[in-house]
Amino acid sequence: MSRFLITSALPYINGIKHLGTLAGSMLPADVYARFQRSRGRETLYICATDEHGTPTELAAAEKGQDPATFCAEQHRIQHDLGRRFGLSWDHFGRSSSPQNHRLTQRFAQQLWEAGFLEERVTQQVYSVVDKRFLPDRYVIGTCPHCGYEAARGDQCENCTRVLDPADLIKPRSAVSGSTEIEIRGSKHLFLRQSLFSAKLRAWIEGKRDRWPLLVTSIALKWLDEGLQDRGITRDLEWGVPVNAFEWGPNPDGATPAIEGLAGKVFYVWFDAPIEYIAATWEWADAKAVESGTYVSVESPPAEMKYGDFMGALGVQNSEWQRWWQLPSAADVTYVEFMGKDNVPFHTVGFPTTVMGVNEGIVAESGGHAPTWKLVDELKGFNWLDYYGGRFSTSQNRGVFMDQALELLAPDYWRWWITANTPETSDASFVWEQFQAQVNADLADVLGNFVNRILKFTETRFDGAVPAGGADSPLEERLHKDVLAKLRELTDHLEGREFRKATTALRQLWVLGNGYLTEAAPWTALKTDPDRAAVAVRTGLNLVALFAKVSEPFIPFTCEIIAGSVGESFPGRWPDLTGEGVLSILEAGRKVAAPEVLFRKVEDSQVAEWRERFGGPES
Ligand code: 2FM
Ligand code: ZN
Repeated sequence: MSRFLITSALPYINGIKHLGTLAGSMLPADVYARFQRSRGRETLYICATDEHGTPTELAAAEKGQDPATFCAEQHRIQHDLGRRFGLSWDHFGRSSSPQNHRLTQRFAQQLWEAGFLEERVTQQVYSVVDKRFLPDRYVIGTCPHCGYEAARGDQCENCTRVLDPADLIKPRSAVSGSTEIEIRGSKHLFLRQSLFSAKLRAWIEGKRDRWPLLVTSIALKWLDEGLQDRGITRDLEWGVPVNAFEWGPNPDGATPAIEGLAGKVFYVWFDAPIEYIAATWEWADAKAVESGTYVSVESPPAEMKYGDFMGALGVQNSEWQRWWQLPSAADVTYVEFMGKDNVPFHTVGFPTTVMGVNEGIVAESGGHAPTWKLVDELKGFNWLDYYGGRFSTSQNRGVFMDQALELLAPDYWRWWITANTPETSDASFVWEQFQAQVNADLADVLGNFVNRILKFTETRFDGAVPAGGADSPLEERLHKDVLAKLRELTDHLEGREFRKATTALRQLWVLGNGYLTEAAPWTALKTDPDRAAVAVRTGLNLVALFAKVSEPFIPFTCEIIAGSVGESFPGRWPDLTGEGVLSILEAGRKVAAPEVLFRKVEDSQVAEWRERFGGPES
């Protein structure tokens, strides 16, 4: 049986994320992880904050903090919000972790040794006043094509032309506004991606019938345009240092990679995906610390050779390698979730790193040493936007994670977002549609069903699952219909088709309501108590079943529902052969109606929230 390794794109450290970020990676990954766990598969869901890069340095400066303090604080905030949304990460790491420093440096070293890195001198904008090189988009000036005065050095927002900072008229620093800027040469490392074109193409072609069309078409388009070698270092302070050896002594005396790169760091898009692996290492270390078996690698024995690095760590905390290194990870299915803008980095950039490192390992060891896994399944999403426009912090437009939780319990958001996952096209958040959908699905269908049957059991059956009576054709039909829907739901979840999965689940809830209306135990009770008992018992079993299969989507509510019929939480996914699907609860078990599960969203609330967060007019 396969193990499941699941990652969602690492959220940037700066700023609380909006609903679009949840929709396009973290939430679907969570639904999928919960589903696989409930099917009894060994599952590891890994995420982390993506902490490096210029925006982090600038955001920290704006708050008067150093980047390390800023990141630590923001990480805590994002971690807390994720938990409150029910994101069931096994580990929520940090790309600035020591583990990621080490692994990133190690990978770069291996790429260098294998000949896949190259030094090049690039011409870059240097701001004398800011005392730093400026990334292209932090140079602002007048667009030579349209005259727009606030064009950025990478692209003009007004005419969308791609620019080079040197094209700008009257260039100035976006950091300080200073015009005292000059072009200086700076030495950098380039990853020779062009060498991997054919390999990448063959690999992606092989995924055509498994990955969404959105994903393979973006990846192939990227390759069709010709793969450029990519600069993987930057002139910044906050990041993984290039020219340092942070894991310990280096007996070979060689600095990793190259001379003359002191003071530079790896490009954020080089180290961020490596953090998927490093965060798994963080997870294993944290577990080892907890169980008292952790062996520090801060000061490895002096006789340890650089090349022993992985092996030595493997001996100490090998749990994480079991998920990532072949052959021990051969039974792992690795599934990545991300928005479409991230697809090129995950189909071309990161795979080049992994393939390059692996080629180096194989060449050196003659194929005996472990190599790293590539992604197996890649689920990409379109955008979820807000009334057809972008979510925007600066314009106060749209709902962010902290605000969402102030307004309503997480399951409302989880349900709506999953039901509207931007899978085949972009989707839009609109308050009125949100209100209509959560009221209909959650309050009228699910909430009403659970409440109706449990209240009735309390008042007429002493709050216990009734015994007696035999199934009639009505129950037999229900059983067949439920089983068919369950299989449909399961298939959609296995296939990571989230919209279709919510549709199937909603239909399952509707079946429950329809059954109860038809079986009408309240009427039967007067003439045929056995019939009423069967109907109530069946209804209660449906409640227990719903708690199990709705858990990936609305876990908080499902915990309450499971508790109301005395079931443990989280439960196991039902057996799809049909055995026991509607005979979960034994006769006599005590049950109790929960408080109202979902209050309806009122018109007045919608009016207020539209005002506060912006509506179609904003
Ligand atoms: O687009 C983003 O939000 C990036 N921070 C995603 C990084 S994914 C991974 F590669 F780290
Ligand atoms: Zn322009």
